[in-house]
Amino acid sequence: MFISETPFEEIEYLYYNVPIEEIIKKATQVCDKTYGNKVYLRGLIEFSNICFMDCKYCGIRRSNTKVERYRMSEVDILATIASGIEVGLKTFVLQSGENAYRALELASLVEKIKSKWSDIAVTLSCGYFKKEELKILKKAGVDRYLFRFEVADENLYSFLKNGEKLSKRLEMLNNLKELDFETGSGFMVGLPGETDEILLKNLRLCRDFQFDMVGIGPFIPHPDTPLKDARQFSIERTIKVTALLRLTLPYANIPATTAAGTLDPSGREKMLKAGANVLMPNITPPLNKKKYLLYPEKICIDESGLECIGCMSLRVKSVGKVLSFERGDSISYVK
Ligand code: SAM
Ligand code: FES
Repeated sequence: MFISETPFEEIEYLYYNVPIEEIIKKATQVCDKTYGNKVYLRGLIEFSNICFMDCKYCGIRRSNTKVERYRMSEVDILATIASGIEVGLKTFVLQSGENAYRALELASLVEKIKSKWSDIAVTLSCGYFKKEELKILKKAGVDRYLFRFEVADENLYSFLKNGEKLSKRLEMLNNLKELDFETGSGFMVGLPGETDEILLKNLRLCRDFQFDMVGIGPFIPHPDTPLKDARQFSIERTIKVTALLRLTLPYANIPATTAAGTLDPSGREKMLKAGANVLMPNITPPLNKKKYLLYPEKICIDESGLECIGCMSLRVKSVGKVLSFERGDSISYVK
C-alpha cells in the first residue's frame, strides 16, 4: 500500500495548532506502515577532524585551535570497517571535516573498501565537492552521500557559515540527485535565529528535494565557538520536528541522532517513537572519537561503538522496535 505525503499546508497546521502527542501518534502510524518496527544500523567512522570551514556552530571549525587534528590511515579505516563487519554491520558512513581529503584520495579509499567487501553500502559525509569530483566518487563505488543543508534560510545560513551561499549547498544536493547517489541531507533544530517560519522552511526544503535520508538533531552550543552563549532549546522541539518530518517524507530514512542522545539521555528513543528508523553506532576508535567533538559532552565516546550495538538493541526494544542488520536502502531511493 502506498503511503502518501501529508500535504504541506497540513504540516503547517499541525505545527501551529496540534499537541505534540497527536503529531507523534500520526507519525508512528506512518512509520509503522513504511518501515515497520525495523531500525537500521549504520557504522559511523569519523575518519578525520580536519576542516577548512569555520562554521560558527561547529566544535571542529578551523579556528578552534584547541582541537588536536587527526587523519586516520587507510589501514586503520579498513580495520575499523572489518571490525564492524564482524558484528554484522553492512553500511558504513565515513565522515570528516570539509576539504580534509581530495576526491581522488577518497575514490581510491572507497575502491579498496569495495574490492574487499562488494556487498556493503558506503556513505560519504565529507563536505562540498564539485560535480566532476562527485562523478569520480560515484564511479569509485560510493553509494550514498550525506550533506546537511543546515538551515534553509539564506541569511541565517550565510551568517553561520561566514558568507557562504546556501545556493552552493543546494546545487551540490541537486548534483548528488542527478548522479543517482542515495542522497541525504538535514538540518539542526534550534539554531540561534531560527524562527517558526525558518523551521517550517527546513521541512519544506526536505519535501521539495525528496531526500532519501534526513538527519536532524538539536543544535548544542560548543564552548569554544562564537555561539557558546546561545540558548539551548529542549529536546521536545527536535521530537516534534522528527514527527513532522516523518509525515512530510514517509519513505525517507531518518536517524535518531547522537546529538539528541546527548541533549537528553532518552533523546534517541524519543526520536524513534516519533518516526525515526535508523541508529548510527559510532565505531571510530575511541582515541580519535574524543577529538571529534562537534558539541560538548557527546555520548558514547569511551566505548568502541561495537559495544554500543548491544546497548542500542535494548534501547530499541524499550520502544517496541528491533535492530535490523540489513543494508537498509531508503525505500524512496529504491522506488
Ligand atoms: N564536514 C561535513 C559537512 O559539513 O557536511 C560533515 C561533518 S559535519 C561536522 C557534521 C554535522 O554536524 C553538520 O552537518 C552539523 O549539522 C552538525 N553539527 C555541527 N556542530 C554542531 C553543534 N554544535 N550541535 C549540533 N550539531 C552540530
Ligand atoms: Fe567544518 Fe563547518 S566547520 S564544515
